[in-house]
Amino acid sequence: MSSKKRKKKRKNNGPSIVVIILLLGIGVTYFIWQYNEKNRLNITFKDELNIEINSKASLSDFVKEVTNGNLINGNDSIDTSKLGSQNLKLKVKNKKEEEETYDVLIKVVDTTKPVITAKEEIKSYAGRDINLLANVTVSDNSNEEIKAIVIGEYDLNKDGKYNLKYVATDSSNNQAEYDFILNIISDKNNYVFTTSKGFQGKVIDGVTYIDGVLIANKTYALPSTYGKGLTSETQNAFNKMKADANKQGLSLWIASGYRSYYDQKYIYNNYVKTDGQKVADTYSARAGHSEHQSGLAFDLNTISDSFAFTKEGKWVNDNCYKYGLIIRYPKGKDNITGYMYEPWHLRYVGVELATKLYNNGTWTTVEEYYGIDSKYK
Ligand code: DAL
Ligand code: ZN
Repeated sequence: MSSKKRKKKRKNNGPSIVVIILLLGIGVTYFIWQYNEKNRLNITFKDELNIEINSKASLSDFVKEVTNGNLINGNDSIDTSKLGSQNLKLKVKNKKEEEETYDVLIKVVDTTKPVITAKEEIKSYAGRDINLLANVTVSDNSNEEIKAIVIGEYDLNKDGKYNLKYVATDSSNNQAEYDFILNIISDKNNYVFTTSKGFQGKVIDGVTYIDGVLIANKTYALPSTYGKGLTSETQNAFNKMKADANKQGLSLWIASGYRSYYDQKYIYNNYVKTDGQKVADTYSARAGHSEHQSGLAFDLNTISDSFAFTKEGKWVNDNCYKYGLIIRYPKGKDNITGYMYEPWHLRYVGVELATKLYNNGTWTTVEEYYGIDSKYK
């Protein structure tokens, strides 16, 4: 009976021990696992791994939390001078002083707009060329050189206040805008007009240019302060013409070149005294109206109608256009130019226009060509 009982007992204890050992095993394993987990090196990074170009940053800035370890190279600064991704290695020591390395993909980005520095208002006279980008500076956090562009419509020849914008965009498409006003002003000395033949006239500081050619006649005057000798183009044209004439055995000289406003005033007043104003006005310009003041005109040799019949006069009439010079007051055009024929008075206009006006020897006047008149107001 008793041995039977004992037998029974042994049968019951076996599985219990196994269970206990098993449970102990699980417990110890769990404990070790828990212990390891608790002491395991763990790093969490920030959600955003982007860094602005040219800013200061170190790897540790991107680490949210380190548990059970220390950053080794976390404070090494990142090279943020170039846009793009960089695969960086973050070195960390765990609790056991073992080194672990993490790959961190950092992206250098540019999210900052350029900065535009400019004037709020730009004033300019009608008809002037103006570089709207001359006084704009654009700076950017990247090292790019960024140029502003102008957005908006304007007419440099028409007065008005134009609301425009500078826009600057960097290579990452960050865009800055700057509103400014372009104020185009017209006054009696600065304006734009169109001639009856459709050429554009510009009055700049009281000096009239049509299609870029300075005009001085009875309608269009020069300011009293204008002029300071023959222009270099005019002098060069004469020199070349004179040299070529010399080769033909002809002799040319300037009898009267540049004349100031006051020189002209003196000359004209003397003619008025002698011939009266009405007659003087047919051959002498009033002060401010003479081409001699422009530095673009000169009188050759003898100031006399007979010059037209000299070898020099004939040669000049047929050849001066090749040097950019014209017979400014041709025969029979008194009512158009406002002056009687002056075969000796040459005006520099450039070869292109001179060639057009030469008209095979039957000179077209500047007034006819541009569609302007020459009359005192
Ligand atoms: N003789 C010309 C017209 C002048 O006086 O300028
Ligand atoms: Zn003259």
